[in-house]
Amino acid sequence: MTSRTLPAGFLWGGAVAAHQVEGAYNVDGKGLSVADVMTAAGTHDERKITQGVQPGEFYPNHEAVDFYHRYPEDVKLFAEMGFKSFRTSIAWSRIFPQGDELEPNEAGLAFYDRLFDECHKYGIEPVVTLSHFEMPYHLVTAYGGFRSRKTITFFTRFARAVFTRYRDKVKYWLTFNEINNQTNYDREFTLFTNSGFQVKPGENAEAVMYQAAHYEVVASALAVQIAHSINPDFQVGAMVAFTPVYPATDNPRDVFKAQRAMQSRFWFSDVQVEGQYPSWLTHYFQAKKYDLDITPADLANLKKGTVEYLGFSYYMSFATQANDHEDDQFSYNESQDLVTNQFVPQSDWGWQVDPEGLRYALNWMNDRYHLPLFVVENGIGAIDHLTADHEVHDQYRIDYLREHIEQMELAMTEDGVEVMGYTPWSAIDIVSASTGQLSKRYGFIYVDRNDDGSGSLARYRKDSFYWYQHVIATNGAELNQTVGEKDESKS
Ligand code: BG6
Repeated sequence: MTSRTLPAGFLWGGAVAAHQVEGAYNVDGKGLSVADVMTAAGTHDERKITQGVQPGEFYPNHEAVDFYHRYPEDVKLFAEMGFKSFRTSIAWSRIFPQGDELEPNEAGLAFYDRLFDECHKYGIEPVVTLSHFEMPYHLVTAYGGFRSRKTITFFTRFARAVFTRYRDKVKYWLTFNEINNQTNYDREFTLFTNSGFQVKPGENAEAVMYQAAHYEVVASALAVQIAHSINPDFQVGAMVAFTPVYPATDNPRDVFKAQRAMQSRFWFSDVQVEGQYPSWLTHYFQAKKYDLDITPADLANLKKGTVEYLGFSYYMSFATQANDHEDDQFSYNESQDLVTNQFVPQSDWGWQVDPEGLRYALNWMNDRYHLPLFVVENGIGAIDHLTADHEVHDQYRIDYLREHIEQMELAMTEDGVEVMGYTPWSAIDIVSASTGQLSKRYGFIYVDRNDDGSGSLARYRKDSFYWYQHVIATNGAELNQTVGEKDESKS
C-alpha cells in the first residue's frame, strides 16, 4: 500500500488498565476492587467471582506485573518506543478504598501524581479512564454496584477528586471503559466488571442491565459537567467496545437483525454523544414493560454532559442471523445470536480477526457521531515464547497491528475520518481481563510472569517493540520495517 503520513501531533502510544498491571492490591491504603475477587481461568473458561478474597484461591490481579513499583522502568521503555501518549486508568479503590468515603486517600492520589509526572518527563500525554473494570468491592456488597442510584454520587465524588488533583497533569479523560460490554447481559463477567453486580435467580438480566447502564450514562454525563467546571480545557470522551455486527447473509431479516444488534450495542454511545435516548430504545422499554427509574432531571443531565470525542477498542467483528421465532423487536441476545463469519480467521481465543472491520468501524462512527475518534485499544492476545537470549519473535503481533494500522490510515487519508490517536493494547504484558491469564499476552514488552504467579517480573523488549518504535518514528509512514533492522545496542 502507498505510504501514508498522519497529521503532526497524532497520539501514538499504548494502553493498559490499572488493575491489569499495577498489582499492589492492598498497598498504601488501597481497598479491594471487583478485579481483586476474580480468579484465573483457562483459555476457554470464565473467571470465578468469589465472595471477597478466599484462602486457597489465586487472584492474578493482586500482583499483576507490579507496575505500581516498576513504573519508572516501564515508562522509560514506553519513551524509548517513542510513545506520545499512554492510556491507563485510575484504580478507583486506591482513591476511595471503600467507595463511599467522603474524603480521598492521599497515598493513592500521590501514586498517580508520580506516574503522571514520570510520563510528562518524557513528553508522554496521559489518557486516563476513570472506571476500567475496577469498582471498589464494598460498593458491590453494600449497594449492588450500579443497581443503586447512590453509586452515581460515589462515582462523581471520585471523578471530582481526580479531576481536581490532576487538573494540570491530565488533559484526555474517558469515563467508563467499554460501557457497552454489558450488552451481553447473560455473561456474569460483563455485568460484574461494568456495573458491579450479579444477577439473582428469577431476575430479568436485561432489565437490570438497562437500569444499571442508565445510572452509568447519567454518572458519565455528570462527570463531563464536573470536568469542565474544573478545567474547561479537559477533553472528556466516552469509550465503547466497537465490535461491528455484520448480517450473515443478504436476507433482509438478517440485515435488520444486524441493525438491531448494532443499535443494542451502541445506544450507550448514542446517549453519551447525542445526550438523549434513541427512539427505538424508549419504544423497546415500553414493549418489554421495563419500568426504569429514568427521571426528567436525568434526561436534562444527559443533554448537558455530552462527550467531546469517542474512544473505542477494536479487536474483532461479529456476525448475526435472524432466527425463525423473532419477536416484533428482533430482540438481540448476544450470548445466543452470534454466528461464525466464514470470511475472517480466528485467534487462538476464538476472536474473529478482521482488519477491514476497523475501517468500517471508523466510517460507521464518523457518519453517526461527527466527533473525533480515538482508537484506545487494538491488539491480539497470543502465546509468546521467550528465547534463551531473552528475545520474543512475535511476527504475528506485528502482522495484526500492521494490518489494522493500514486500515486506520485508509480511513483517515481516503475517507476523511478524524482520528486523534492510536494506543494499542497493550503497552506491556498485562493480566487478561476475561481469563486472568498472563499467557494471553498483548504487550510490546514481555514480562517474565506465568499464569500461576511464578516468574522474575523482568521486562524484555519483543520484536514488536522495535517495529512499533519505527512506526512511531515515521509517523505511520513505514509499517514494513523488518525486525532484523532493529538497533542491536538496545536488545
Ligand atoms: C478489553 C478491555 O475488553 O479488551 C481490556 O478493555 C482487556 O481490559 C482487552 O484486557 C483484551 O481482553 P482480554 O479479555 O483478552 O484481556
